[in-house]
Order: sequence, then C-alpha cells, then structure tokens
Amino acid sequence: MAEVVILPDAAAAGELAADIIGDLVQARPDAVLGVATGSTPLPVYQALAARRLDLSRLRAFALDEYVGLALDHPQSYHSVIAREVTGPLGLDPARVHVPGEGPIEHAGDVYEHALTEAGGVDLQLLGLGTDGHIGFNEPGSSLASLTRVKTLTEQTRRDNARFFDSVDDVPIHCITQGLGTILRARRLLLLAFGERKAEAVAAAVEGPVTANHPGSAIQLHPRVTVLVDEAAAARLEHADYYRYVHANKPYWQPR
Ligand code: GLP
Repeated sequence: MAEVVILPDAAAAGELAADIIGDLVQARPDAVLGVATGSTPLPVYQALAARRLDLSRLRAFALDEYVGLALDHPQSYHSVIAREVTGPLGLDPARVHVPGEGPIEHAGDVYEHALTEAGGVDLQLLGLGTDGHIGFNEPGSSLASLTRVKTLTEQTRRDNARFFDSVDDVPIHCITQGLGTILRARRLLLLAFGERKAEAVAAAVEGPVTANHPGSAIQLHPRVTVLVDEAAAARLEHADYYRYVHANKPYWQPR
C-alpha cells in the first residue's frame, strides 16, 4: 500500500518533500533526483531552495519534454527545468538531463541509456494529470513502457494551454519516461493538490492497476509516498486509515 500523507496545503507538502530530499542528499550528495514539471512540484522546489543546501553534486533527470518545440522555447521542459529547478536549487547544469535531445527517433533509447549509466533514479517526484497521467504517459500506456514518443490527449493539451497563447500552440507530441522507467526508481514521491485532482488521486491509490489510469502503476512499486492536500484527498475511501497510519508511524521508519 502506498503511504498517503494528507497535509493542510501544498506548502506543507512542499516542506515535507524538501525534508525527504534533504535527507537523501545528506546521505548521498550525488544522489539522482527525478524531477517533474507542472505546477504541482513548485512548492517542493521553493521549499528546497529556501534551505540553501549544497546541491551542486546532485544529479537530476526530468520525466518528459514536448516534441516539436525548440529546446529554448520558454515552455519547453528544458527551459522550465532550467528556470524552476536548476537555477533556484543551484544544480550543476551539466548534471541535469531532460529527454528529447538529438535525433528524436533515437532520443528514447539515448535517455534510457543515460538513466542506466547514472545508476538509476533514487527518488522520483511525480505530479498527476487530471486524466491520470504520470510523466506524459496518457491513458492506455503500457505498464512496462520505456522512454518514447507519445501523443498527448486533448484533455492534457487543454490543461496545459494555460502555459501557451492558445491550445493550438500546445504540441501534439511529447517524449516521456515510460511507466516501466518510472517504476525502476528506488522511491516514488507523488504529489497532487486541489479538487480537480481528487478523482485521479483515488484512482491512482485505490483503483485497479490499469493502463487506463497510468497513475495506478504506482501500486506496483514497493516504496511510494503520496502527498496530498485535503481537497485532493476528498475521494479517497480510506482517508481516515491513512491519517491513522501516519499518526502512528513507528519511530524506526524513515520519513
Ligand atoms: C504535465 C506534466 C506532468 C505533470 C502533470 C500535472 O502535463 N507533463 O509531468 O505531472 O501534467 O500538471 P500540474 O502539476 O500542472 O497539474
């Protein structure tokens, strides 16, 4: 069962996530952090930046990228990661990786190779799309999938249109770590906030494991922590039990 922590708000979740990442970096300064884009992980990066930890040896791998957008476009995930993660956290840009470089037909294999060479991801941050996607793995994605080019759903393009002038400017294609890639990370930390995520959270945590809901793949992972606010927890059937488990967490269990 995933560990589900229900917090008062996104800022509190950001602080807890920053605690977890801080512990990881203290134990291993050159740890490999899997970073995510979207609005959800921003409080994590803000909380982490405020701690002024030395993260210069940390290595980072992003989950996904648009295809068909120049890498220096302000909304490319190369740009977003540079602006929201690499700069504010003081990471070494040479240690930060985002998929989609070089010839696109080889970019998936190249990224998988780089992940393997790095020894795999220690902690993967994940957001959750309203349609249940993690990374850009849309409904129907194979549970064993690896990094590859995918086609975005209309729902995802509409959700992400707020970052562009219009929905027509949102790329149709993307490259994303697969669900199989994500499941290889040694720990998953999924965050979701707000009522528009409530259904997707319930399906990911308590629904059947199905390619129809890519977020449900987290149930196949042995070490998952889900940080949600009250609104995103609203559809969880066992919310009271998760609160009870968290309140009675044995002292020997790391946070
Ligand atoms: C985006 C990203 C995902 C992200 C999700 C949720 O399209 N590719 O990695 O987790 O959608 O976005 P947000 O956090 O803005 O709701």
